[in-house]
Amino acid sequence: MKKHNFSAGPSILPQEVINQASKAIIELDKIGLSLIEISHRSKEFISIMEEATELVLKITGLENKGYKAIFVQGGASLQFLMTAYNLLEKKAAYINTGTWSVKAIKEAKILGDVIEVSSSKDKNFNYIPKDYIIPNDADYLHITTNNTIFGTQYKSFPDTPVSLIADMSSDIFSRKIDYSNFDLFYAGAQKNMGTAGVTLVVIKESILNKVTRNVPSMLNYKSYINAGSMSNTPPVFAVYTTLLNLRWIESQGGLEELDKRNKNKAELLYDEVDRNSCFSGFAAKEDRSYMNVIFTLIDDNLSTDFNNAWEDNYIVGLKGHRSVGGYRASIYNALPIESIELLIKCMQQFEEKFK
Ligand SMILES: Cc1ncc(COP(=O)(O)O)c(C=O)c1O
Repeated sequence: MKKHNFSAGPSILPQEVINQASKAIIELDKIGLSLIEISHRSKEFISIMEEATELVLKITGLENKGYKAIFVQGGASLQFLMTAYNLLEKKAAYINTGTWSVKAIKEAKILGDVIEVSSSKDKNFNYIPKDYIIPNDADYLHITTNNTIFGTQYKSFPDTPVSLIADMSSDIFSRKIDYSNFDLFYAGAQKNMGTAGVTLVVIKESILNKVTRNVPSMLNYKSYINAGSMSNTPPVFAVYTTLLNLRWIESQGGLEELDKRNKNKAELLYDEVDRNSCFSGFAAKEDRSYMNVIFTLIDDNLSTDFNNAWEDNYIVGLKGHRSVGGYRASIYNALPIESIELLIKCMQQFEEKFK
């Protein structure tokens, strides 16, 4: 029985992507070899890498605009350090919207001064800060576009005099935005893009080569760009799965269509959270994430009953993160509306029984 997968990441992928990826493990495109036994220097894999990077730029509307897409290992967590290594000369500005921003700030502090221009820590990160001043002389401003743990998401982006860079790990490819607002963005693949093991970084090339420090090759964006993300052996399976998912995004009608579907799914679920007398939403309404819907039970003593209700319906991955508690419904691109409808039904039946 296929389960309804609300996991935060690694998380749901389109079934056809999983089918194609598993076929390629047995044999890639009738070449008589598995994807995972061919050289990354083979023409087959080079073409996979090229198509993946081209599709990233196409889908984000960044073709011929001076951007490069690269694939790196080490997760989004390594990007907390790499961004600073490559871009932070003296000081950088950060907006602190929760756990992942805190980690990014910690790494950047190793390399220079960090100005925390704003933070939503005062309310356990349940909102996106709006009023702040970005220093003109900062090397860049770093934001986390979607806060996976706290369920908040930027709906518009800071108007900044300096380069805007963003961790988009949990909302990449989920909505139609103007990606050219950003000089750099990165995302671990394991939420809306593919399998764990690879991280996408998209960089406007003109922002590089400005720091005076000597950047080690494996941390240097330039080396990845120059080597087509193959200065060492790339995680071939993770890159291939990402390519399959990028093709799937295109086949669905691109970001415009996914944007519509994701908003519709999120609004259905938030409407139920607001209507249902047993639950309450965590994030400030105007900043609610369309990817991670966080809600809590009004009466915590009923948690075992509610857990039984959704688990009995083959729903998985709904437990909230320990820093918020309650429930987190991660409703990434591949989650079908039927899963949302089932969760809503569980919440309604639960209310009938316990209100
Ligand atoms: C917004 C965000 N940034 C960074 C990370 C860390 O990603 P990784 O595990 O790929 O290092 C996560 C993981 O959940 C995340 O949600």
